[in-house]
Amino acid sequence: MPLKLNANYIKGFLTEAEINAIYPEIKAAHKTLHEGTGKGNDFLGWLNLPTDYDKEEFCRIKAAAAKIKKDSDILIVIGIGGSYLGARAAIELLRSPFYNNLKKDTPDIFFAGNNINPTYLNEILSICEGKDISINVISKSGTTTEPALAFRIFRELLEKKYGVDGAKGRIYCTTDKARGTLKQLCNEQGYETFGIPDDVGGRFSVLTAVGLLPIAVAGIDIDAIMNGAATAQKELDNDDVSSNDCYRYAAIRNCLYRKGKAIEMLVSYEPAFTMMAEWFKQLFGESEGKENKGLFPSSATFSTDLHSMGQYIQQGERILIETVMDIKKPKSDLYIDNDAANADGLNFLSGQNMSVVNRKALEGTILAHTEGGVPNIVLELPEINEHEFGYMVYFFEKACAISGYTLNVNPFDQPGVESYKKNMFALLGKPGYEDMKAELEAKLK
Ligand code: PA5
Repeated sequence: MPLKLNANYIKGFLTEAEINAIYPEIKAAHKTLHEGTGKGNDFLGWLNLPTDYDKEEFCRIKAAAAKIKKDSDILIVIGIGGSYLGARAAIELLRSPFYNNLKKDTPDIFFAGNNINPTYLNEILSICEGKDISINVISKSGTTTEPALAFRIFRELLEKKYGVDGAKGRIYCTTDKARGTLKQLCNEQGYETFGIPDDVGGRFSVLTAVGLLPIAVAGIDIDAIMNGAATAQKELDNDDVSSNDCYRYAAIRNCLYRKGKAIEMLVSYEPAFTMMAEWFKQLFGESEGKENKGLFPSSATFSTDLHSMGQYIQQGERILIETVMDIKKPKSDLYIDNDAANADGLNFLSGQNMSVVNRKALEGTILAHTEGGVPNIVLELPEINEHEFGYMVYFFEKACAISGYTLNVNPFDQPGVESYKKNMFALLGKPGYEDMKAELEAKLK
């Protein structure tokens, strides 16, 4: 049984009649999406991706992953935003947040090029000393500054270590099939290259080579991920909103937004889910946050954040909704023994599994937060595995697209991201930005 919506904890906040009232808009969004008539309709490749993908390239991904596993202690994954978050989310969720510290027969994986911080990069460089390394540089546009800068540094490292020809066998590029500086460099140097379909945008690209190569290197079954996504593609393909949980989720969050809620927190009780929540935040934030609209996506890991954000959630401004990931079966459990001395007073927990304590925290928190005025949408996930991951990725992607169309924005562009880039380029003196430079420097004085 895949991801399922439990709407019991929004009852005091929305009536069924209010939810039903938005169904025609959700149905219209479904029609627009599936007929390809909406805004950004040249970026709908993700919709059929789980069944309609390049099988030859899929085999090359597996072969490259096998080679990296054989000849490398470390894989450096260079990318930012949609070219990074999905792979990291999958590895942390399906393997472990402590992946690099596990006893394993797969390489350590470090993510670079997702910031411009020299200390961060220096630390990865020093970890690489004396190790065999491969690089997977990922950039759809092939021009993004952060990954381009990190790639320059790691490429030089590899060329020094293995020689220019030796380095070629250790550099894997994932980029646009035809365009961009990175693609040009790959062609010139003869690096093995994987293509990102033109009609799949960055934040919708985890099920392409963007996500699949690093995920496969981590020893995760990418066939099972694609199967899970294909199940979601099939099951979530109808516009019966009352039975399509993906659409009902989109309906409910839009209703709550219209009633004045401003922030959606994606909450889980699994530390391994933290990066998945980062992926979710990018997906919804970049897709919906435009034209002065959109729920602000945020996240929390409980019970950790109950001791930091819990106070605000319970009693702060009533602008929040929580979407709670209720993961039914933990990957492992821990039995709590009886302690004859009971010095810590915890014997009331003896004979329980720790997962039961975590579950009671979830139940108690949902009750407390809803009573405190925070609607809780619950998404029930039976367990964490590759199939469920693939299903969940597709579920959120589709919910996001439907939600964006219901909001009447283009869910597939991100024009706002350009503003900081222009300023940064101008301040750095990039040719073509001369006039802006003087203007911005005057403002900074
Ligand atoms: O969703 C998007 O398109 C963006 O977040 C991109 O993924 C991000 O900016 C990285 O871009 P690129 O892959 O072109 O380097």
